[in-house]
Amino acid sequence: MSLNSLTLTRTYHRDTYPAISPTKPSLNQAGKTILITGGGSGIGFEIARSFAKAAASRIIIVGRRSSVLDAAVAKLRDEFKDSTAEFIPRQGDIGDDSSITALWDSLNSQNIFVNVLILNAAHLYPNGPDTLRIDKGEFMAAFNVNVGGNFFMSSKFVNQPLHPKGQQLNLVNVSTAGIHMNPAPFQNTYSTSKAAFTALLGRIADEHPVEDVQIISFHPGALYSESASANFDKNLVNWDEMALPADYAVWAASPEAAWLHGRFVWAHWDVEELKSDQDILKRLEQETGFLKVGVQGLAEISIEAFMKK
Ligand SMILES: NC(=O)c1ccc[n+]([C@@H]2O[C@H](COP(=O)([O-])OP(=O)(O)OC[C@H]3O[C@@H](n4cnc5c(N)ncnc54)[C@H](OP(=O)(O)O)[C@@H]3O)[C@@H](O)[C@H]2O)c1
Repeated sequence: MSLNSLTLTRTYHRDTYPAISPTKPSLNQAGKTILITGGGSGIGFEIARSFAKAAASRIIIVGRRSSVLDAAVAKLRDEFKDSTAEFIPRQGDIGDDSSITALWDSLNSQNIFVNVLILNAAHLYPNGPDTLRIDKGEFMAAFNVNVGGNFFMSSKFVNQPLHPKGQQLNLVNVSTAGIHMNPAPFQNTYSTSKAAFTALLGRIADEHPVEDVQIISFHPGALYSESASANFDKNLVNWDEMALPADYAVWAASPEAAWLHGRFVWAHWDVEELKSDQDILKRLEQETGFLKVGVQGLAEISIEAFMKK
């Protein structure tokens, strides 16, 4: 299956484009605090840059290595020295409950309210050709970060004690297309744990109206990040430009993306074509399972149909 067959729009972007430009007034993030997990490197760092271009007031980047976070913040402060944006490095491990609790406790105690949460950090290992030979402890480590850690971060975010009544929150989940690759060699623990969390977010979006918390999951493309460079030959893959997922994350956290609440989309898809496609709009309205993770190829099963005698 070629990557281009995974598209809903005629235009398939590999780089940023005007409709998702973070300098577009409708995507402006002034006054907002953004928290990005894994914001010290790779896609997460580029997302931090895009939010700074969108004039976000405060950008908090979280990761396990302080040295990586400090270097990232130094680069951001240098690039955006003419802006008033505040860049904050926070050492933390989203696979560790006490670390997540300490992070949010410290934000709350400093009166820092987070408007936008970008769930970008991921645990990539173990992946191997024979799933049933994977050690259970290692297997669960991937689920602990990619499902449990993201769940706990989302819960802390949505239940912030400082949340002003009626103020909308924005949650953006950086997912993966590996979920849809059949077969998906070496995609066992990583892809299935990412799929589980993306499925969960689809359900959470059913419980929370978009005015309360806007939830979007997106596949960022193929990006030559730190982990990608450790696993792939640079010449082997047709890599996308980092600016594509970085700017897309800002668009996904804006009111322009509200109509995709709870859905899982590709950064490659042209957002204007997507929004003007009447078939897609109709399916979004009529099928709660459209662009959500679930069993493919089935008509939707409603709870009413399930209950019928
Ligand atoms: N690159 C691609 O082509 C691609 C394709 C599809 C999807 N994605 C998704 O895009 C996201 C970013 O990917 P990437 O390629 O930029 O990844 P990456 O190079 O591995 O960067 C991951 C970042 O997350 C941090 N991190 C990892 N585990 C963490 C933990 N337990 N707690 C806190 N921070 C943690 C890392 O810093 P520390 O090690 O210092 O913690 C690092 O800054 C991931 O969700 C990935 O699934 C990427």
